[in-house]
Amino acid sequence: MFARRIAVVGTGYVGLTTGACLASLGHHVICADVDEEKIRRLRDGTVDILEPGLSDLVAEGLAAGRLSFTVGAAVAVAQHTAGVEVVFLCVPTPMGVGGVADLRAVEAVLDEVRDALPAGCVIVNKSTVPVGTAIRTAELLGRPDVAVTSNPEFLREGTAVRDFLNPDRIVVGSSAQDAAERVAALYSKLGAPTVLTDSASAELVKYAANGFLAMKLSYVNAVAELCERLGADILDVTEGMSYDRRIGREFLDPGPGWGGSCLPKDTQALLQVADAADFEFRLMRASIDTNTRQRQRMVDKIRLAITGSRTGSLNRTRVALLGLTFKAGTNDLRDSPALMIAALLRQAGAELVGYDPAIPASTSHPDLVGIELAADVYAALSEVDAAVVLTEWPEFRTLDWSRIAGLMRAPSVIDTRNLLDADVMARAGLTWTGVGRRQSADNASC
Ligand code: UGA
Repeated sequence: MFARRIAVVGTGYVGLTTGACLASLGHHVICADVDEEKIRRLRDGTVDILEPGLSDLVAEGLAAGRLSFTVGAAVAVAQHTAGVEVVFLCVPTPMGVGGVADLRAVEAVLDEVRDALPAGCVIVNKSTVPVGTAIRTAELLGRPDVAVTSNPEFLREGTAVRDFLNPDRIVVGSSAQDAAERVAALYSKLGAPTVLTDSASAELVKYAANGFLAMKLSYVNAVAELCERLGADILDVTEGMSYDRRIGREFLDPGPGWGGSCLPKDTQALLQVADAADFEFRLMRASIDTNTRQRQRMVDKIRLAITGSRTGSLNRTRVALLGLTFKAGTNDLRDSPALMIAALLRQAGAELVGYDPAIPASTSHPDLVGIELAADVYAALSEVDAAVVLTEWPEFRTLDWSRIAGLMRAPSVIDTRNLLDADVMARAGLTWTGVGRRQSADNASC
C-alpha cells in the first residue's frame, strides 16, 4: 500500500474518525476545521466527542507525525508540500428547507481550495449528500484535472472507529475509474469487499442503506405492537426471525423510535430525492410515520402505567427519564427519541427529572429546557410517579432496584428499550412494562 498525502476537511465525528483512522493505516493526514479552538485542542490531543478509541488514535497519529491539525481547508491542502493527493470532504450537510440536504458548507470548501489543488488530485465526498452531488461538485469546482468521487461512510456513533477499521464494505463511485480505484486503495489494508460504481449509485447506497435500517426498525416496532395485542413476546419473535440469514440479528430491537443525526435526516432526504424523481416512496413514508407514532405510543404506555388509563391526566405527576441521548455509548442529543418523548410528556403536564451518564447535570442545551437534570440516578428517581428507561445504557441494568422501589412515589417502570430484567423488577417490587413483551393486561391494551 502506498502512503498517500491526504487532507480531511471537517473534524466532526466522521471527519476526525476518518483522519485518525487513515493515519493509523499509514497515510499522512492533515485535518482542517474552521473552529480555531477545536483545532487548538486537537493539536494537544484533546478529543471532545465521546467516541471509544478515537482519543488514542489521535494521540498515536500526532506522536507518529502522520496526523496534524490546522485551521482552514486551503491551509491543509497547501501544507502537504509535496502536493496533496486526496481531499476528503467531511463537512455537515444538514437538512435544509423541505428536507433537502443543505450543501453550503461543501460549496464553501470548494471555493476555498479550488486554486490550491494540484492537478491529478482527487476530491472525495464522504458526507451524505443528494444523488447528483458528485457531478454538481465537479461542475462547481470547474477543474477537469481534479476528479470527484463519492465514498459514503457507514460509521455508527459510538462505534465509529471500530466500524471504520472493520468495514462491511467500501463503496466508491466516480465517472473516473482510476480515481475511484485510487480512493479504494486507501483502504486496501482493511481487506473489505469493495464496490466500484458511478457516483450516483454510490450516493444512493448510503440513503438506501440508512432507509432500509429505518424501515427495519419501524417494522420491528410495529411487530412489537402486534405482539402486545396478540399476547406474543417480541424477544422470542425476533429471535425466531434472526436465525434466518436473510434477516439477521442486527437492528431487531424495538425501542422508543429511531433517532440520531442520521436516520431521520436521511429518510427525509430520500423522500425528497424520490419526490424530485417523481416517485412516491410510500414504503419510506410509512416507515417515518410509524416512527412518529411510536413516540406517542410510548407516551400512552407511560400514561397507562401512571394513571391506569391511556387518557388519564399527567398533571402534577413527576416522571424520571433514564437516558436522554439518542442511543447508548454517545453524548449526542440530536433528534433523540428520548427528548421527543420528554416534550410530549411535558405538554401533557408531567414534571420531568432526567439522568443520563453522558450528560452532566450542569449541561445547558435548548432541547433540555424543562427537564431538571440530576447528577445522581438515585436522586433522579426519588419521589417520582414513574421511571422511564429511554436510552439503553447498560449501567441501568445493575442499579439497586430494590432501593429504588423504596425511593419512588409509585413503583412503576416503563422500559422503552426492553433493557431491564422483568424478574429482577418483580423481585424488587416494581411494576415493569416493556415494549412488545408478553406480560400483564395493562401492557396488552396500549
Ligand atoms: C446510522 C447507521 O447505523 C450507520 O451505518 C450510518 O453510517 C450512520 O447512521 C450515518 O448515516 O452516518 P447512527 O445514527 O450512529 O448510525 O445510529 P444507529 O446505531 O444506526 O441507531 C439509530 C437509531 O436506531 C438510534 O435511535 C437507536 O437507538 C435505534 N435502534 C438501533 C433501535 O431502536 N433498535 C436497534 O435494534 C438498533
